Amino acid sequence: MEQVLEGYEKIWIVGASKGIGAALVKALDAPGRQLYLSARDGKALEQLAGECSAKCTVLPLDICDDEAVDRVGQQLLEEGAANAALDMVILNAGTCEYMDSDKLDLKLLERVMRTNFFALVKCIDVVLPLLRQHLSQREKLQGSSARGAPKLVVMSSSVTYQALPRAHAYGASKAALRYFTECLKADIQKEGIDVRLVSPGFVKTPLTDQNDFDMPFVLEADDAAKRIVSGLESDRFDIAFPFRFISFLKGMAKLPDSWRFKLLSRMSRHSLEHDSSTGTPHL
Ligand SMILES: NC(=O)c1ccc[n+]([C@@H]2O[C@H](COP(=O)([O-])OP(=O)(O)OC[C@H]3O[C@@H](n4cnc5c(N)ncnc54)[C@H](OP(=O)(O)O)[C@@H]3O)[C@@H](O)[C@H]2O)c1
Repeated sequence: MEQVLEGYEKIWIVGASKGIGAALVKALDAPGRQLYLSARDGKALEQLAGECSAKCTVLPLDICDDEAVDRVGQQLLEEGAANAALDMVILNAGTCEYMDSDKLDLKLLERVMRTNFFALVKCIDVVLPLLRQHLSQREKLQGSSARGAPKLVVMSSSVTYQALPRAHAYGASKAALRYFTECLKADIQKEGIDVRLVSPGFVKTPLTDQNDFDMPFVLEADDAAKRIVSGLESDRFDIAFPFRFISFLKGMAKLPDSWRFKLLSRMSRHSLEHDSSTGTPHL
């Protein structure tokens, strides 16, 4: 079987224990490849590593723990100096919680922003020296290496194309991440670091198993992983799929505001009846 993403031998996947991350591990698994697997659930990572033909190193990590992120980054930097640096890092870890406009839950907002935005940015801060290490090793080999440009892959979401009801926290965190990643790409692509963004529609995973609404054009995680890998083999910056759902969201975003919000309010579950003394809705 032909190896996908040939030339990318050392890959760190953050958020690898389940869902899209675990499917990406399977899609990238190949003998001779070295995969580093991170997430909080070390047991799940060990089990996944046991099913792979690649050499897997399990690095359990809570990305919200800045010191732990520094420690793992340092470990990978030392290992990269002793052997070869990482070729690619996929920052897939993320969470989702929905909010109601009836009850703006700031704690929920902080939780989601912490994981999906601030912790991801902390990871990026630790990953950049690892990818620069790759560049300097490549330079020493004076271009004779078959290694491709080091890749930084950041998991965003299609929700960033059009705000959707109840996704206040999730959408804001992913939109912030998209903006941050675009700024970063504009600056560091000159260095030779290939920054990519992934913007999936609905994918069936433990995260979306909690959704109590219909998920249009939902994909299986293995299918999503294949589309991500094929996007990484192309030169697309924003790897967005499935096409019909993305087109729907992008088309909706282009509608006149009055039409757009009429459509959105049909999707909203917001109650109109409120208790004026407490401000809470009658449920
Ligand atoms: N599923 C979708 O429809 C969809 C659509 C668009 C974008 N996405 C994005 O795709 C990514 C993966 O989503 P998924 O659906 O596969 O979700 P999932 O099944 O819940 O998997 C999330 C992954 O992130 C890890 N993670 C979460 N918090 C972490 C933390 N604090 N530290 C380290 N790892 C952490 C989880 O591992 P542990 O729990 O073991 O830590 C797990 O490996 C997320 O960024 C999500 O926002 C998903």
